[in-house]
This record gives sequence, C-alpha cells and structure tokens, in this order.
Amino acid sequence: MYQVLYRKYRPRTFADVIGQPQVTTTLKNELTSGRIAHAYLFTGTRGTGKTTCAKILAKAVNCLDLQNGDPCGDCEICRGLDDGSIMDVVEIDAASNNGVDSIRSLIEEAAFTPASTKYRVYIIDEVHMLSTAAFNALLKTLEEPPEHVLFILATTEVHKLLPTILSRCQRFDFRRISPEDIAERLIHIAALEQAELDHEAALQIARIADGGMRDALSIFDQCLGRSNHVTMDVVQQTTGIADQSYLSSLANAIVQKESAAALETIAELYQGSKDMNRLCEEMAEYFRNLMIIKTTRNPSQILLLPESQLQDMTAQAIGIKLSLILHALDTFEDCMGRMRFGHARTEMEMAFVRLCSPELDTTPEALLRRLEALETRAPTQAPVSVNRPAVSTETPSSIETQQEEPAIPIQASEPTVKPKSASKNLSIEELSASAEPFDQWQDILRAIKSYSSSVAAAFDGSSAFVSSDYLLIEAPQFAFDLLKRPSQRERIRDSVKQVTGQTYKLGPYKKPKKDDSGSADPLDELEQRAQEAGFLAE
Ligand SMILES: Nc1ncnc2c1ncn2[C@@H]1O[C@H](COP(=O)(O)OP(=O)(O)O)[C@@H](O)[C@H]1O
Ligand SMILES: [Mg+2]
Ligand SMILES: [Zn+2]
Repeated sequence: MYQVLYRKYRPRTFADVIGQPQVTTTLKNELTSGRIAHAYLFTGTRGTGKTTCAKILAKAVNCLDLQNGDPCGDCEICRGLDDGSIMDVVEIDAASNNGVDSIRSLIEEAAFTPASTKYRVYIIDEVHMLSTAAFNALLKTLEEPPEHVLFILATTEVHKLLPTILSRCQRFDFRRISPEDIAERLIHIAALEQAELDHEAALQIARIADGGMRDALSIFDQCLGRSNHVTMDVVQQTTGIADQSYLSSLANAIVQKESAAALETIAELYQGSKDMNRLCEEMAEYFRNLMIIKTTRNPSQILLLPESQLQDMTAQAIGIKLSLILHALDTFEDCMGRMRFGHARTEMEMAFVRLCSPELDTTPEALLRRLEALETRAPTQAPVSVNRPAVSTETPSSIETQQEEPAIPIQASEPTVKPKSASKNLSIEELSASAEPFDQWQDILRAIKSYSSSVAAAFDGSSAFVSSDYLLIEAPQFAFDLLKRPSQRERIRDSVKQVTGQTYKLGPYKKPKKDDSGSADPLDELEQRAQEAGFLAE
C-alpha cells in the first residue's frame, strides 16, 4: 500500500529533524542530564516538526537505552510504543476532541501510574482549539502535574492561549525551515525513493512550501505522480505556477507601457484557467524580487532563485527604476485586496492598465514615478549624436577630451526642449564644474559586472557625474588605465546605453577648484530643469 511521503519520512530521532536546532539541541541536553519539565509547549507554523518532536520526546523520556538524547528505537519500550502494545503515550487532537469531557477523562486517567513506562505522556495537538471549560480543567492539572505525567502541547496559534497556560509550560518556537534545508532533505528523500529530483526543482518546491516540510513533501509527492524525474517543468506543471516567461513579459509590458500586450497575455492565461489571485501574488513576488536585486549587493543570498532566472531578472532590473518597482508592488498588493470583493480578472486588468499609464493613476507612488522619470530625463536632453562610429580610433592616452568624436546635434523637432550646449569646446574642468551626480551609476556597475566582475571591481567605490553629453567618472587610476583600452571603453559605453538608452562620451571627473563662480541655488536649478522639460510651460 502506498504511504504518503510525509508520513513515511517522519523523523524518528532528533538528529533527523532539520532546521530546528534551537529545539532539538536543548531537548537533547535536558534528556541527557535528566532535567525534564512536566509541560512543554511547541509552537510554530504547520509542517515544521512539532508533532514529530513531540513523538520523539515521548519516546525518549521512556527509552531504556537513550543514545545521546535520542531514543534508541530498539529497546522493548521503543518497540512497544512503535507497534502500539504500550499505550502510555496518548495523542489527542484538540481540534476534534475539544470538549471538557475528553479532558476530564484524560485527567482522571493521569492519576494512575503508567503500566510499563516511566512517564505517561499526553500530546495535545492544536491545543488552542480546546473549549474554555476544557482549558480550565487542563490548567488545574498543569498546576500540579503528577510526577509520572508529561504534557506536550502543540499549537500553530500561540496567541490564542491563556497566559496562565503559557506560564506553566516550557516553550519552544519552531521556525520556518530554510529553502536550502528543505531542498536538501527533498533530494535525500528522492534518492531513498529511487527518484530523481533536480536541484532547481527542489528549491522551487521549497519556495512554494514557504518553510513547511509537510507541504514540501506533499508537493514532491504530487510531482512524482507525474514523473519519476522531477524537473523544474514538472514542478511548474504540477503546481500550476505561471511559467517565468509570462511574468517577465508582463513586467516588460509595464516598463514599455504596453497595456495592450499585457491584456493579451492576461487573456491567454485566463483561458488557460490560470487563477487570477495567484497571478497577482506572483506578480507581487516578481516585483519584490526585482526590488531586492536592485537594492542589495548579494541578492542571491536572499532570493534563492535558480541561477538562470536570477541572471535574467538582474538584466531586467537594470533597466527598471526603483520608483516603478515600488509603484507596481503597491498596485498589486492593493489589487489582491480588491479581488476579494470585485471580479478578479477585471481587477487584474485594471492594475495593469494603471501601471502602463501612470498618468492615469493619482496615487503618490505613480506621481513619484513620473517625477523621477522627468527628473532624469530633463538634464540629459542632451544632443544625441547620430551615425557615431562604433569604435573610436583615438590614441589610448587621449581619453580626457575626445574631440575627435564630433557630436552632431540631432535636429530638434520639438523646439520647446532646448538642448543643452554641446560639449564641443569645453575642457574637462569646465565640464566637471557644471556636472551633476549621475544616479544610475550603480545600475551601470551592475551591468558591467554581468560581463566582467574584474572590470566592475576596478570601479569599486567609484561615482559618476553627467555634464552635457559626457559621463564623468571619479575612480582610481587603474580604472582609467582600463578605460584607455578602446574595447573596454566600448563595452562600458554599451552598458551605459543599455541602462540609460543614451550614448555618452566618457571622461574623468575633475573636482572643481573652490572659489568658482558660486554654484546656483539648487531650487533655482530644479526649477530651470523643470522648465526645460516643459513641465511649467505656460
Ligand atoms: N523539521 C523537520 N525535519 C524533517 N521533516 C519534517 C520536519 N518538520 C516536518 N517534517 C515532515 O513533515 C511531516 C509533518 O510534520 P509535523 O511534525 O506533523 O508538523 P507539525 O509542525 O505541523 O506538527 C513529518 O512527518 C515529516 O515528514
Ligand atoms: Mg502537528
Ligand atoms: Zn529505546
């Protein structure tokens, strides 16, 4: 007969319990030193090992040949408890026996010494479900438990317990198990089942299970029903999560403001009976991942995405502004709430249309996003040169001012936006004097890192400024030595282009000497920039 995996692989010793060292180490110490309490409380989310540890503890307190705190599994008590011939460990599910009567009979029974063991153990699962009367009856016994009785209470909802109960128990909090730990255990079990489980697939299962080993094993069980070799595809088919490509193309549609494309994709998913609530959760998670990639140095430590996916998302994150990501996160969170009352598909579509047309959205997040777009656009409405030669031919030492690259201003079709003066006859000092900090430099460094971590390392701690059509870099000398190589320059320019959509010349930043003509009031400057962008145009 087939036994579901999570039952079949219930750990029988503390050593086999994963991810809960704060519980298992303490319990083993208490057992080896004989300091056993009379009431324990195990709390934490489901499927993290509460019932499992209760069973192990019940056996360990009675085992005749304790092995370093773990039950031996082989003495007559261990075997008797396993095969049911010894009945001094009583499990009660408070969810189904919550009345005062079942607790009363338990208490009456507790008065008698156990038949063949040292302790009679009562495991009361889901203890928060007990009725008030049952609670009170239990409380009296907990106040003065008989010497030979041990209570182990377990609950997922500790906040529902009375303080009087809490104060009488030694409490252990079970944590969510980390995705790596879950994945490792799954792979171990796969081998015992003579099945194959890919590492990425195991991580994906772990992420869906959200810290619970029982759920992870159930999902794995379902996957095995589909195929004996569980790959990422098998996990996706089994759990019905959207294929990553849907998520990234939906995110792209938002970036490109293509609401039609987004609506088409949603329609396709809907016809494929994709659950819209789930899609919304996935979109929120997707943007959360982008946020983390965008704001942390080592996203792989937090995210645990498959490597290929992390690379794709890093590339995507480079071209997306943080304000857009926050706007999207906010909109999807909001959408999840609305879906409870409205029509899920319509809500989903509205969220996308709003995100694709931030000008229709009056939330602060949308305004912030538009402001930021405006701010970065205004100062760089610099002339973009056309037909620029792909590889520059100047001598390597002359990167300071690349006068040999004539900047041909594009004929401005919109005379309202006055192009800033081209850099043609300005020295690097003059350019530096009017330069402004360039806020996308970190993105560019990330883009550089994606093709060479050593080049990126050379620019560690660097910063950059924009002046006219120049990107002025402040970096150690050896970074400039690298920049002198035309091939390197070209790649960095490509990265800049990739991030900003604009072509800049590269040069070194020269700190302006003090006593210049006195820099303008930043507010005046902001106003001027806004004017240039036509923002305040009368
Ligand atoms: N920490 C863990 N280590 C190994 N397996 C675990 C762990 N927690 C749960 N499991 C698996 O999940 C199943 C259910 O765990 P259980 O202890 O009943 O969870 P709960 O915390 O909900 O009481 C176990 O039979 C076991 O297969
Ligand atoms: Mg349980
Ligand atoms: Zn034993």
